Amino acid sequence: MYLSRFLSIHALWVTVSSVMQPYPLVWGHYDVCKTQIYTEEGKVWDYMACQPESTDMTKYLKVKLDPPDITCGDPPETFCAMGNPYMCNNECDASTPELAHPPELMFDFEGRHPSTFWQSATWKEYPKPLQVNITLSWSKTIELTDNIVITFESGRPDQMILEKSLDYGRTWQPYQYYATDCLDAFHMDPKSVKDLSQHTVLEIICTEEYSTGYMTNSKIIHFEIKDRFAFFAGPWLRNMASLYGQLDTTKKLRDFFTVTDLRIRLLRPAVGEIFVDELHLARYFYAISDIKVHGRCKCNLHATVCVYDNSKLTCECEHNTTGPDCGKCKKNYQGRPWSPGSYLPIPKGTANTCIPSISSIGNPPKFNRIWPNISSLEVSNPKQANVCDNELLHCQNGGTCHNNVRCLCPAAYTGILCEKLRCEEAGSCGSDSGQEAPPRGSPALLLLLLLLAALLGTAGPLEI
Ligand SMILES: *[C@@H]1O[C@H](CO)[C@@H](O)[C@H](O)[C@H]1NC(C)=O
Ligand SMILES: *[C@@H]1O[C@H](CO)[C@@H](O)[C@H](O)[C@H]1NC(C)=O
Ligand SMILES: *[C@@H]1O[C@H](CO)[C@@H](O)[C@H](O)[C@H]1NC(C)=O
Repeated sequence: MYLSRFLSIHALWVTVSSVMQPYPLVWGHYDVCKTQIYTEEGKVWDYMACQPESTDMTKYLKVKLDPPDITCGDPPETFCAMGNPYMCNNECDASTPELAHPPELMFDFEGRHPSTFWQSATWKEYPKPLQVNITLSWSKTIELTDNIVITFESGRPDQMILEKSLDYGRTWQPYQYYATDCLDAFHMDPKSVKDLSQHTVLEIICTEEYSTGYMTNSKIIHFEIKDRFAFFAGPWLRNMASLYGQLDTTKKLRDFFTVTDLRIRLLRPAVGEIFVDELHLARYFYAISDIKVHGRCKCNLHATVCVYDNSKLTCECEHNTTGPDCGKCKKNYQGRPWSPGSYLPIPKGTANTCIPSISSIGNPPKFNRIWPNISSLEVSNPKQANVCDNELLHCQNGGTCHNNVRCLCPAAYTGILCEKLRCEEAGSCGSDSGQEAPPRGSPALLLLLLLLAALLGTAGPLEI
């Protein structure tokens, strides 16, 4: 194997795994792509949905500043102390390591003392705005799994926009606005993420929570990923099954947490008073000591390992998929159209593996229980109207849309859109609770029932 850094310690475990228990013990970890199981035909591979571990993504990014010469110290200049705006004899000098503040210092390890930080030039050209773009690029789609946290060394800016790109920096959308006065800065009413709900979770808000002050002690700005997850998974994120269910069926929700690049647009430094003190412009600048971005490579639930090789992140695709995000089927494995894996049913998910192209099916995989009859599905009625799609016609209860012509339902559901409980159709549902009596001896079914309860407990699909 080539010398690459593995993002996941599961790498070897997965590739050399021989016999493992068929169901992971922990819900929603999706940390293996396949296991071997015994069937009447002997040992066979059982494929399941899988994803790389969530990790610190700042190790894999490239940072770019605009304007490019905005970092302080070239030429050397003096600035006022952050805690005391009347002490203005601090020096920034790019050519002296102890006095330089290059952008890399936003991503280094923060020991306690002294903290290291990037710093901009001061606002000496006031009233021309002091604006800086900090662009973080991964050249790879990643899924955010924890709050983005930006720690300022200076006061937090009076105005700032966090933006994201999903197409490697070609187009940008705002993620969140930050201002001391949202109405004045962006003509938006101030809001907090806590004011949102399941139905408005994708709303782009302006918040005043993180912009108060030049002199306050709090230096941190959040973009709240976990609070948004909590609308589906509960306040302690216990019910991840419910979140995964929604992510599975709602592309817009999945895309909301997916980025290839982030951009921090610093629009106006902390001023603290109503008026800028024109005699002491060396008080005004930006300084950032730390940026945290946690996430995982997006591999469409077809890989547990993402390698960093030649300064590039790539999924190690399983299930006979290929591409940087495992976004297509390998050559000769186009027996049915590619589709992402599915988180459902919990806990194994559905691998949706690519299968050999029709011409090369000598031996169709017997263990693929979901698509036993390939020819009838692909060939029949190509002009048939859409039964489902990602935007308007959702398969319900965690079903996934295949090829726009049918929903793949979790085991307990049936019907064109998986709208019916299978037990209802068989007339065997339990009493008032609407739940089946748990069948004995099957951990998978038990978990599925728990999932059902969880899904039934949440509100309907998102209004987006
Ligand atoms: C920052 O990026 C935005 C687009 O995201 C662009 O409109 C703006 O001109 C850039 N500002 C600077 C200072 O480069
Ligand atoms: C992918 O292809 C290889 C080689 O033909 C085969 O051994 C393997 O079982 C396939 N995997 C899946 C998930 O279909
Ligand atoms: C697949 O389905 C078609 C149409 O429903 C049927 O004619 C054919 O016999 C089926 N093939 C197999 C292998 O079950």
